Formats: sequence, structure tokens, C-alpha cells
Amino acid sequence: MKIYSSLEEWKAFRPSLPRSLGLVPTMGFLHEGHLSLVRRAREENEVVVVWIFVNPTQFGEGEDFGTYPRDMERDLALLREERTDYVLAPEVEGVYPPGFQTTVNVEALSSVLEGAHRSGHFQGVATVVAKMLCLTQPERAYFGQKDAQQSVVVRRMAADLGMLTEIVVCPTVREPDGLAMSSRNAYLDAEDRRASTVLYRALCAAQKAFAGGERRGPRLCAAMEEVLRAEPRAEVDYAAVVDPETFAGLDGIEGTAWAVIAVRIGKIRLIDNLLLNAE
Ligand code: PAF
Repeated sequence: MKIYSSLEEWKAFRPSLPRSLGLVPTMGFLHEGHLSLVRRAREENEVVVVWIFVNPTQFGEGEDFGTYPRDMERDLALLREERTDYVLAPEVEGVYPPGFQTTVNVEALSSVLEGAHRSGHFQGVATVVAKMLCLTQPERAYFGQKDAQQSVVVRRMAADLGMLTEIVVCPTVREPDGLAMSSRNAYLDAEDRRASTVLYRALCAAQKAFAGGERRGPRLCAAMEEVLRAEPRAEVDYAAVVDPETFAGLDGIEGTAWAVIAVRIGKIRLIDNLLLNAE
């Protein structure tokens, strides 16, 4: 496994690699969710590249950029075990050198839900993902379903800008009690960890109502809110039922819909989602 911290060196090297390259974008502090993406990339591509970069432009003011968990040595050991070929681990100045001034903004999708609660977040994500796709020219790039709106933003960007990369979205990996894996889970103390299962329990309540025939968006939201209200440590940012393409809230559901939740537990903000289906 070769590690590139210099993007200039990587740019000189990239043309010697085959087209069949799978990219796994991450901010490090890897968990089973990330590793499931690496394994899928390993199955489907000749070459696997993992990007590790805590991207400052996707963190808002007062968010956790400074304290975001980092452990490069551990990450590299895990990636070696998964037979990763290359790791790109650039410095902030390598990604955003002096004079940097280009941004990518996926307009409407970036202004609702996560975008409304985290101003500038998706512009930061879209810009850094566009940059890494240009740098690596992957045939496929792998994202986790846990960040549902992010994956829709990235898909839209790739389609709108005519990028050749296929955006592959992989299932959320959960702890045995349902908590979706996330690097931020490392911040949870014992009490908050116990409370954090409320997200999945609320999503399951919506799914149960949906499977029972409920198709009214507000009723499905009410089913989630009832579960969330019962957890005193949870402060709800949103609990919504949305269109899978536009992320607009739905009154009545005809096809499929995503139930999406963002909750603060103590100082930690957690998100999760579930596809509503009839079974
Ligand atoms: O999902 C993440 O970890 C980040 O948003 C990403 C896609 C690596 C961009 O910094």
C-alpha cells in the first residue's frame, strides 16, 4: 500500500494506473461502515484508492472540525488488512492552496434538511468530492447510505457536470442495537450511547407504520416524533419523510420514501435514515 500526501506526486503517477479504479472517500477514523465500502471497491475494481482528509470547508462555524477524531496509524493498518492499493492523505494546503477560489454548489438539494441546518456544508462536500474525482478519475466511487442526502447531492453533481464516475451507494452498517456506525459515535459517553439508539427506534416506528399501510407523511413523522420525545437526552433537529431524489418533504407517499432524522444528544449531532418499504 502506497501513501500519497503530495497531490502533485499523485497527479504525476495517476496516468500509469488502469481505468478500473475504485475510490473510497473518507475523513478517516475508519469503522466497519468505511471498511464495507473498501471491500466492495476491492471486489469491483483492479485498483482501490482510499481518500483520507478531514475537510475543513464542510464544517460550519462552531462545528467540530478541530476535535473531529483522527488516528492515521490505525486507519492505515486497517486499510492494509483490506488490501488497499493507495491512500491519498493530503494536507489542507494541498487541497486548498493559496489562490483556491472554485466551489461547486448543488443548489436546491443543498438548501433543505442537512443543508438548512448546516449552512455551507454541502458546498464544502461537493467541492472536495469534485476535486477528488478529478484527481483520481475513478470508474466508481463508493459512499455510505448513512449520509443519504450527501449521496444524492454527489449523484446530482456527477450527473450535472457530466462526470464519468459511477456513484455507488452502499448500505448503512449498524451496531447490534441499531446505531448506525459513524466516526462521531466515538464521542458518545455511556449515557449518550444508550440514548443514541433512539434514532433507529424512531425510524423503525415509521417503517412499522408504513408497512401497516400508513402513507401520510405527517403521520409517519408523528410516529418518529413520539419515540424521539420519549428520550429526554435527544434534541431533535428534524424527523422527516422525503422524496428519494429531491429530498422534499412528502404529504402522501406513492412510491418509495426515506425517513430521515437528525438529533443532538449532548454535544453530538447524529443522523440516520431508513428506506420505507411495504414489508
Ligand atoms: O462522508 C464523508 O466522510 C465526507 O463528507 C466526504 C465524502 C469524505 C467528503 O469530505
